[in-house]
Amino acid sequence: MAQEVRGVIAPGKDEPVRIETVVVPDPGPGEAVVRVQACGVCHTDLHYKQGGINDDFPFLLGHEAAGVVESVGDDVTDVAPGDFVILNWRAVCGHCRACLRGRPWYCFDTHNAQQKMTLTDGTELSPALGIGAFAEKTLVAAGQCTKVDPAVAPQVAGLLGCGVMAGIGAAINTGNVGRGDSVAVIGCGGVGDAAIAGSRLAGAAKIIAVDIDDRKLETARSMGATHTVNSRTSDPVEAIRDLTGGFGADVVIEAVGRPETYRQAFYARDLAGTVVLVGVPTPDMKIELPLLDVFGRGGSLKSSWYGDCLPSRDFPMLIDLHLQGRLDLGAFVTETIALDEVEKAFERMHRGDVLRSVVVL
Ligand code: APR
Ligand code: ZN
Ligand code: ZN
Repeated sequence: MAQEVRGVIAPGKDEPVRIETVVVPDPGPGEAVVRVQACGVCHTDLHYKQGGINDDFPFLLGHEAAGVVESVGDDVTDVAPGDFVILNWRAVCGHCRACLRGRPWYCFDTHNAQQKMTLTDGTELSPALGIGAFAEKTLVAAGQCTKVDPAVAPQVAGLLGCGVMAGIGAAINTGNVGRGDSVAVIGCGGVGDAAIAGSRLAGAAKIIAVDIDDRKLETARSMGATHTVNSRTSDPVEAIRDLTGGFGADVVIEAVGRPETYRQAFYARDLAGTVVLVGVPTPDMKIELPLLDVFGRGGSLKSSWYGDCLPSRDFPMLIDLHLQGRLDLGAFVTETIALDEVEKAFERMHRGDVLRSVVVL
């Protein structure tokens, strides 16, 4: 029997979100219904609401979530009712050319539930990033559920579903930050701070945080930054070079997603160093660089999708490290809110007042 639950819908371009009754079908083959316990508010949800992702309104928002599996389709064996899981938006296929080469974190054919959740009048909903977890329950592909230790608080666990995993992964998976490295992180919102926490976890010796907002730099310090640079008042490339013996950092992580900060990252790294772009640019953005500098400075220029994470490998490991007191994921939760406070949370996010507001159900 399909069930009716409450969910946060973006009805049309730039219209305020509202709570509607959502019809959640029973799980079919390869699917699972998850009782959502917590879901963080991410920029991508706001982009959906603003029509910046696509025009497939109405959207069921929310995608940084954790909860308990309620029921699964007949053939599902990886997860079972009662399992505590983090939802991910990259359920790998196992068959594409990336998966077949043993690099499933690059999977080019990730999947979601086949059936659609709807409004009571039958209107099909588009779940944000194939999840739709600002809802009491949601239908996903079973491969989108990753079991982790249930000792962790759901509002903390859910963060790994998107932004925090993107930042940690940008450092440890894409940037390969290792013991003794110098790292600079440009942009210290939730993603940049997670890159800082990930760099600390990986043993970086020097972690330079760059932002235009002193409040953000203060938080960055508590996440593990050893030095801070306000790039409104000083040239970040010069400052990073000064702090690294005149050379630049081994790894520079760009967590803003703008051409000017990418250029800073490009010139603030040491020769043969690595630039990681984890900030998401908009379609109109372009960058021009002297090709001789691209060649002459060597090293690698990488982008990081979802922190190049493999949920089955990374989620349980990071939750264990959190439970051992070695990774303070709780520091990313600025506030917990109710389902009907998502619109207000968007405003606070837009003003830069929060790292993460998390809906708790
Ligand atoms: N130089 C340095 N820092 C900047 C600049 C700049 N020119 N412009 C903005 N910032 C800082 C902001 O002050 C803020 O602290 O970048 C940070 C961005 O943080 P958030 O807006 O909280 O965004 P976050 O959730 O961290 O995501 C960062 O990654 O996933 C993508 O879409 C997301 O592109 C975004 C980026
Ligand atoms: Zn694949
Ligand atoms: Zn997100």
